[in-house]
Formats: sequence, structure tokens, C-alpha cells
Amino acid sequence: GATHRIAVIPGDGIGTEVVPEGLRILEAAASAFDFQLDYEQFHYASADYYTKTGTMLPDGWFDQLNRFDSIFFGAVGWPDVVPDHISLWGSLLQFRRHFDQYVSLRPVKLLPGITSPLAGREPGDVDFYVVRENTEGEYSSIGGKIFEGTDRETVIQETVMTRTGVDRILKYAFDLAQSRPKKHLTSATKSNGISISMPYWDQRVEAMAQNFADVAVDKYHIDILTANFVLHPDWFDVVVASNLFGDILSDLGPACTGTIGVAPSGNINPERKFPSLFEPVHGSAPDIAGKGIANPIGQIWSASMMLEHLGETEAAAAVMTAVEDVLAVGGDTLTPDMGGTATTKTLGEAVRRQFETNTSMTLVRS
Ligand code: NAD
Ligand code: IPM
Ligand code: MN
Repeated sequence: GATHRIAVIPGDGIGTEVVPEGLRILEAAASAFDFQLDYEQFHYASADYYTKTGTMLPDGWFDQLNRFDSIFFGAVGWPDVVPDHISLWGSLLQFRRHFDQYVSLRPVKLLPGITSPLAGREPGDVDFYVVRENTEGEYSSIGGKIFEGTDRETVIQETVMTRTGVDRILKYAFDLAQSRPKKHLTSATKSNGISISMPYWDQRVEAMAQNFADVAVDKYHIDILTANFVLHPDWFDVVVASNLFGDILSDLGPACTGTIGVAPSGNINPERKFPSLFEPVHGSAPDIAGKGIANPIGQIWSASMMLEHLGETEAAAAVMTAVEDVLAVGGDTLTPDMGGTATTKTLGEAVRRQFETNTSMTLVRS
């Protein structure tokens, strides 16, 4: 089979605890589905590296990582050691921008065995994608401070929306909606209050909709949209949003499915000009780091998304089947964030064993 070259960056906190569980399922997938993974681990993009060197990334990181097919990432941020804006703008946000990973693809799905905090919701009621713009918008470094230290102190940070940037994320979201049975796209806006950029966003949505006559389109202002995620999660299929709104929706959505610990993401360069990066939605979780109880499912699901991106479609699906089979048992097989008592390692190991059982049965059948 094919050989895929993977850069592995565990980062900080629980990133270093869940990445090994992701790697173990990737190993199992490679041997069951006959492909090779050629990894290299990098310990930069972490607070430890910053403490040693004074920077988050070495010179030459771009050329080094650019040689890989994908990047498998944990989480970065350790605010007691490095202020978050320095660690994040010095690492993850550079990856997203330099590798032009303009799509942040974030599935939101209520999995079997997990209780939703939304009363009466069952798997199937919550199953949609947040498609988040990932390289511009509200996340900009344009702005500054004047009159610092005086009563007139003024701070400005600009939002940037380019036609190319908006249209390409909308195109991706419309294509995704068109490929799904419901063919329904919801746009997150705030054109009542954010009076320049958001009306522009709405206008580009309307223009793009002309090319997708079979996709049903609606839009909500972000405030009521958050309410509707909680009240009517079954209304959504593909939700497209600017960088900041997408960030917020992609923690809220997974919270509605029980825990953000299961949520995966792809930071994707659809043209494949640069490597894409796969990571859980969650961060380094300093409050539970070192305890061995972090939920590894977000990292394992991210591994599945990476396999899909690499063209290992069957392996990607088999990983998710194993995850769903294990979670369906519920109870103690779950980590504490899902109401159980399992550790990161025992849950990761259970998924790997289930994967091996399922895939060896497939071999016997065929
Ligand atoms: P967080 O996602 O790290 O944690 C939020 C809450 O969710 C915590 O209570 C945590 O214990 C819990 N949680 C998160 N992941 C979990 C898991 N896998 N299993 C069980 N519980 C889990 O968000 P935060 O506290 O706002 O941020 C902590 C640090 O991580 C900050 O430095 C932040 O900037 C950074 N961060 C990084 C990323 C990333 O690398 N993509 C994403 C978000 C936050
Ligand atoms: C995420 C994170 C990042 C973001 C932070 C850590 C900069 O919250 O991946 O969702 O806002 O994009
Ligand atoms: Mn976030």
C-alpha cells in the first residue's frame, strides 16, 4: 500500500496524553488496511520548547513540516508559562495561515452511549458540521494601541474579509451541503450589529447560493444561532461561519453532544498544495493535565479524519465504527467527562482492541 508521511506534534498538557492514543489507532489501521505511516515527532509548539529557546517554533519550521503529507497535532497553550496570544500566534495560527488551511472542518455528532445535556436528544438528533473560516476574519494582527497608559488609551483590531477568502470557505461549505442528504446550509451572521463585514458576508452567501439551486439556505444572527444550537440541534446540517463565530459554535456544538472531549477537527488546505493539520477541538486542559483522564476520542476521531484526507477511506470508517462500538457500551468504559471512570489509556486501548476485532472479522468474512 501507500506510504503517508506524518509530522506529529503533541504540544502541551493533555495534547501529550491523547496523541499517543491517536498514534496507536493509526498503527492498527495501517496494519489492518495495508498502508505505511512514516512519522516524525516534533517537540516544538509547546511551552517547554518556549522555555528552552524563547520562541515557539524553530527557524526553518515551514520547510520542515511542508515535506509531510499531514500534520497530527495535539494541543498547545500553557498560560502559566507563556501568555496564550504568544503561544498560539507563535505556533498553531502560523500553521493555519502559512499552510493556507482555510477550512476548519468540525463535525458535531451525538455518539451512542453518551448522554446529551439536552433533554431527550438521541444519536441522530445532533449530526451536523461546523465549517469555520480559518485564516482571516476576526483573527487578524492588524491594529494597535495609541495613547497607552493615558485616559485616552485606545485599542483597535481590524476584521479582514477578502472576496477570495470568503468565497472559498462558502464554496467548500456549499459543496459539503450538496453532498449530504438534507442539502441544507445555515450561515452564521451578525449583520445587524457588525455593519460592514457581516452584510458583506451575507451578500457573498447570496451570490454563492446562485450556483447551488438544490441547497436550501438560511441564516441566523450568531446570538439566536447559539440559542438554536441548544433548543433545536436537529435543525442543522452544515453551518458555515467566520473565524470567531465558528470557533464559538464549534465548542458549543460538541458541548450539546455531551463533552468537547470527543470533538475532532481538520484544518484543511483543499487544494493539497500544503499539508493539512488534524487536531481535537479542545485545548491543553491544564485543569486535568497529568491525571491521565483526558478523553482520547477527539484525538482518535481526528486520526480518522486524517485517514480520510489521505485517501484511506475504509480505514477511516473502521476507526469510527470501533469508537461507536466501544462508546455504545457506556458506563465505566467512558472517561469522567462522559460520566464514567475510564482513563485515557484504558479507553484508547478499548478502541484499539475493538478495531482489531472488527477488522479481523472483516478479513474472515471476505
Ligand atoms: P480546553 O479545551 O483546554 O479546556 C476546557 C475544559 O474542557 C476544561 O475543563 C478541560 O478539562 C475540559 N476538556 C478539554 N478537553 C478535554 C478532554 N479531552 N477530556 C476531558 N476534558 C476535557 O480550553 P481552555 O481551558 O480554554 O484552554 C486551555 C489552554 O489550551 C489555553 O492555553 C488555550 O489557549 C489552549 N487551547 C488550545 C487549543 C488548540 O491547541 N487547538 C484549543 C483550545 C484552547
Ligand atoms: C481552536 C482554538 C484556537 C482558535 C485558539 C487556541 C487560538 O480555540 O482551535 O478552536 O481560536 O482557533
Ligand atoms: Mn476554539
